[in-house]
Amino acid sequence: MIPALAVYGIRKRFGPTHVLHGVDLAIEPGERHALIGPNGAGKSTLFNLIAGGARPNAGRIDLFGAEITRLAPAAIARRGLARSFQSTSVFARLSVFDNLRCAAMLAERRRMRWWQRFSGSRSVDAHAEQVLDAVGLSARGHVRAGTLSYAEQRALDLGIALAGGAHTLLLDEPTAGMNRAEAAHAIELIRATTAGRTLLMVEHDMDAVFALADRISVLVQGRVIATGTPAAIRADAAVRAAYLGDGLGGGLSGGLSGGFGKGAGA
Ligand SMILES: Nc1ncnc2c1ncn2[C@@H]1O[C@H](COP(=O)(O)OP(=O)(O)OP(=O)(O)O)[C@@H](O)[C@H]1O
Ligand SMILES: [Mg+2]
Repeated sequence: MIPALAVYGIRKRFGPTHVLHGVDLAIEPGERHALIGPNGAGKSTLFNLIAGGARPNAGRIDLFGAEITRLAPAAIARRGLARSFQSTSVFARLSVFDNLRCAAMLAERRRMRWWQRFSGSRSVDAHAEQVLDAVGLSARGHVRAGTLSYAEQRALDLGIALAGGAHTLLLDEPTAGMNRAEAAHAIELIRATTAGRTLLMVEHDMDAVFALADRISVLVQGRVIATGTPAAIRADAAVRAAYLGDGLGGGLSGGLSGGFGKGAGA
């Protein structure tokens, strides 16, 4: 099967600092894949390379078998890859609904021939309405996006990616800055709305990762040290050694030990 997203031998350095040392990843279509690893491992750097925000020093990136390595971010987005930023990409002064309409309209324009476009506005509205509902913001459609709570803005951000027709989503720490209830809600939203799409997610909240991911890859100091099911990752000696050895924050080691059961505690 052709992977939805494949990364081959990606290297990246900033000046003398080597950040990624030959990263390989293959995400199957429809898979929810989590990328975890300590702070500074290179996770966001890898996302940035995939989304076209920077170019790798070596390696190749394919989206459904077509190379995207040297394409501009907009060209990659047009091919159906959406990246959610931690700073949200919403238009603060537009209503929530209009933010979704904009995204839906752009997606529709890409799909349609010019002679079809004049009849497109109803389907754009319907699509935006459907996404509004899917991300749980029906009651907030007419308020200015800038007045949403932080968690709601993240939901809208996800909605913009969905309305834009993305089939592959990169989410970098989608629950960062949320309390536990908000984070649990966000994970449920992501689960519900990404069914049938491909998801690559960076997340430090191990409850979220183990609840959502089909497979997990572990990036440590610019290298993938393990890829596997949540159960396999929990049991992986190299992963445990890397986490328990480097004084990493409680989220990861706590989550791993927690999942590992009693007696495995750090
Ligand atoms: N533009 C840049 N110039 C120089 N160094 C950079 C640049 N971007 C990232 N780095 C360095 O690359 C390394 C990896 O950073 P990155 O943000 O990818 O880590 P991360 O795994 O996302 O960490 P976190 O979990 O804290 O978000 C860090 O040492 C960082 O300082
Ligand atoms: Mg990061």
